[in-house]
Amino acid sequence: MKSEQWSSKLGFILASAGSAIGLGAIWKFPNVVATSGGGAFFLVFALFTLGIGLPLLLAEFLIGRSTGKEAVSAYRHLAPGSRWHWIGYLGMATCSLLLSFYSVVGGWIVLYFLRGVSGTLLEANRDYGAFFGQTTADPWAAVLSQAAFMLLTIVVVAQGVKQGIERASRIMMPGLFLLFLVLIVRSLSLPGMEAGLVYFLKPDFSQLSSEAVLYALGQSFFCLSVGGSCMVTYSSYLSKQEPLGKPAVSVVGLNLMTSLMAGIAIFPALFALGMKPVEGPGLLFVTLPAVFEQLPYGSVFITVFLALFLFATLTSAFSLLEIVVAAFAHGDAARRRKMCWLIGSIIFALGVPSALSFGIGKDIVWMGKTVFDLADFAVSNVLLPLGVLLISVFVGYRFPMSILREEWSKMSPWWRKGLGVYLFLLRFVLPIIVLIVFLNGMNWLPF
Ligand code: PHE
Repeated sequence: MKSEQWSSKLGFILASAGSAIGLGAIWKFPNVVATSGGGAFFLVFALFTLGIGLPLLLAEFLIGRSTGKEAVSAYRHLAPGSRWHWIGYLGMATCSLLLSFYSVVGGWIVLYFLRGVSGTLLEANRDYGAFFGQTTADPWAAVLSQAAFMLLTIVVVAQGVKQGIERASRIMMPGLFLLFLVLIVRSLSLPGMEAGLVYFLKPDFSQLSSEAVLYALGQSFFCLSVGGSCMVTYSSYLSKQEPLGKPAVSVVGLNLMTSLMAGIAIFPALFALGMKPVEGPGLLFVTLPAVFEQLPYGSVFITVFLALFLFATLTSAFSLLEIVVAAFAHGDAARRRKMCWLIGSIIFALGVPSALSFGIGKDIVWMGKTVFDLADFAVSNVLLPLGVLLISVFVGYRFPMSILREEWSKMSPWWRKGLGVYLFLLRFVLPIIVLIVFLNGMNWLPF
């Protein structure tokens, strides 16, 4: 049976960049940058992304493309008769759990976007913090909007790799950059915006704590979607001839650029209106509406912002669903459609407790964390670092050298010289670094 393929290298790059660019780059990131030494933090993050994220992304690309198989079968094919294919199962579990609460935030974005379109979001003197609290605490609003987000994801992924994911990414990714440009122009044309730019970008190494450095490390793989093996599945649809170096570098570059654009779109506008940046969900759902309420055509611009966030979250959600669906679809289009609906519904059900954990379920707490926080903790601090560790050890020690050499020979001369360095990184440097990130995530480091 002819398996699915991206129509071109560009299609693959856009879909993979779509997976990478999501809440990590445009939501969590700008905030941490600003509070952790501005440009200094960005520099450290960029270094980690290049030195750690890029080799890992390439490792997932190597596994997927060389076998042309979805994650579980890919590991099985490369290391037959062993247990390495459990990395594939681990990836499926990680991505399902991630999507279960990613879709909760996605749902809030859908809801806010609809309010933006209908003109009911911005209102003079509205307390946006309380408004956001009411929205997320309302069980119907939370669950129905989460269902709407999952529905959008399922409908696209069910259409197939080329017809669904690639086509949507080809519209959404350029759309995302265009919308960002609109917002940046708006933000930079406000009087008094300079303070925000300085706050976001001015390097201040004295603010760069060891905690921030460790955070940057962890973020460098979350932001590139590595560790969950969904890039294995995505790269399996890439034609055998394409060299892998360029797509990997493009995804990394686009991701870094987006993080920068997010900060430049947000902070100058905040400062121009005399507001202070806040942590977490507040930035998007509380501060930005308050900022745009004060601007002419504010409801248009906030809707643009929400559309952009929706594109970014959806294209990440596609990759999270795809790895699971592909493992069951066996390349059959009808089966794929069925599996999309079935698995999508199961993941939705899995996410309902997370959706409710801001309202009726807020008292269900374990180790000081709600269901939503626990799921986030399990994915970000345990499952993804574990996946990253196993993948770097797998490619470093177990990947068949003949296949690695063959893949490497397709790359440009610059890359070809670096195979030894690459293996050294995967075998020795990355496992140690990931271990440190893991210990830090569990609060087991003595400092
Ligand atoms: N990279 C995505 C983001 O930044 C999240 C993600 C992680 C997606 C791992 C897939 C796998 O939002």
